[in-house]
Amino acid sequence: MSNFKDVRIMDNFYQSSSFFPMPLTLIGTLNEDGTGTSYGAYSLIFPYYIAGKECYAMLLECRNSSNTAKGILRHGKCTINFMPYSTKNFEEHVNMGFPGDTPEEKMKTLKRFTPVDGKSKEEDPNGNYPKILDEALQVFECTWIKELDNAQDDKVEEEYNGPYHNFNGITSKFGAHFILKIDHILLKDKYYDALINGVTKKNFCPLPTNWGYRDSKNFWCSDYKKASSVGIPNREVDITSVRYAAERLQTDVKFTDDALKMLVKVPRPFLKLVLQGCVKWADENNCKLITEHEMQIINDKRAQEKKKK
Ligand SMILES: Cc1cc2nc3c(=O)[nH]c(=O)nc-3n(C[C@H](O)[C@H](O)[C@H](O)COP(=O)(O)O)c2cc1C
Repeated sequence: MSNFKDVRIMDNFYQSSSFFPMPLTLIGTLNEDGTGTSYGAYSLIFPYYIAGKECYAMLLECRNSSNTAKGILRHGKCTINFMPYSTKNFEEHVNMGFPGDTPEEKMKTLKRFTPVDGKSKEEDPNGNYPKILDEALQVFECTWIKELDNAQDDKVEEEYNGPYHNFNGITSKFGAHFILKIDHILLKDKYYDALINGVTKKNFCPLPTNWGYRDSKNFWCSDYKKASSVGIPNREVDITSVRYAAERLQTDVKFTDDALKMLVKVPRPFLKLVLQGCVKWADENNCKLITEHEMQIINDKRAQEKKKK
């Protein structure tokens, strides 16, 4: 502890009491009458539901009087645009981060980026969706899950005097949180190829990091340098512990040691789930003994399903 100083925790602690790495995005929402898309700079935007739920979702934290909060409350849709870094592009984010400009003023201020229709509009040509930015490296198209935390009746108001929600909708006098279902993730070709065919140092998506920190004069952001990687630890569990887990399953399906050996690299927390998947396959295929051969079939099937996704 002698190597640290204890910092006072204040409002906006992520930028006033610490250095916090965050994404840098421009979030697009429809203006009041739905005739155009207005963009605001946002960094407090993080993955929220990542697995095991009925959808995938992001969490946005924003000022409840912002154009973005109003756009989401009114129309329920937004686009999260991850732009490439350059000093000029960062300046554009800072321009889009100036509180008080109306959506109409912001639409005129946006100089470097081009709003275009996204996948939501392509799928539903008669629907009204905020546009995505053509220069983005990656875009998430999202829909607010307003029913969470009973926020469905929240609407745009001059002032919010409570009661406030805990985690979705209007959450304090000046704050709002929005849990946003991800409808589409759109990636530029090069980075789509990287995901599908393998990431290297050359094709890693070069997104900048907003450091949150700002003093009375400057916003701080760092350019993307280059990706480096370290290998995933090759920690094989002992076959006895895989056998132990297999024997504890509520089933009459048995595994041979050769089959269990094929599971020694599965990380501990997922082992039961993987074994249960094998038993499910065995039940569906009237199989009572899983050998190396059946395990191979199950693995191939899993690989096919992954490819389809
Ligand atoms: C780089 C950057 C990141 C920002 N991140 C956030 C954020 O995550 N949440 C927030 O409420 N305001 C954030 N701001 C401030 C908003 O951009 C500012 O309130 C702006 O007026 C929002 O635009 P809008 O009213 O069009 O939504 C950020 C500003 C900048 C420049």
